[in-house]
Amino acid sequence: MNSVRHASRADQSKVIEIWSECGLVKPQNDPLDDFNLALATSTSTVLVLENSGEMIGAVVVGFDGHRGWFYYLGIKPDFQNIGNGRTLVSAAEAWLIQQGAPKAMLMVRHANSAVIEFYEKLGYNVEDTSVLGKRF
Ligand SMILES: CC(C)(COP(=O)(O)OP(=O)(O)OC[C@H]1O[C@@H](n2cnc3c(N)ncnc32)[C@H](O)[C@@H]1OP(=O)(O)O)[C@@H](O)C(=O)NCCC(=O)NCCS
Repeated sequence: MNSVRHASRADQSKVIEIWSECGLVKPQNDPLDDFNLALATSTSTVLVLENSGEMIGAVVVGFDGHRGWFYYLGIKPDFQNIGNGRTLVSAAEAWLIQQGAPKAMLMVRHANSAVIEFYEKLGYNVEDTSVLGKRF
């Protein structure tokens, strides 16, 4: 039995373990800071997917006042390819719609471009846009 809920501080280590197992932790990002900041910010949250009480997935979702964004979407490897990613994205979309976001966006690293097919199956399109960044 699957269910989705908002993460709390107590979920920190389990969520980061999932992100690590999924290859989502990169040297330039501290997942602990990212988790805490997402929970501390009023327009973002971390959603976790549980299967019979066991945490099997997590995603950061936030609304910036114009678009909704997903980050760190990961499903434990043993639970992939059975619809769990779809379930968690649907829950994140429902949360964004509730916040008033008109559109969901996400970024995929070029090294992980195989995952684009997953998002396309969920109705996402690759857009003709370059993403620029500046670290503070
Ligand atoms: C990407 C990820 C979240 C997908 O979760 P999942 O639970 O395996 O996906 P689902 O089972 O819900 O798949 C939904 C659909 O996408 C397809 N799909 C899933 N992963 C895919 C992939 N890598 N390539 C192509 N299609 C894929 C499934 O076959 C399924 O298709 P169907 O509806 O026709 O049956 C999961 O593979 C993961 O955690 N990967 C590692 C972390 C990662 O790359 N995250 C994304 C960062 S941008």
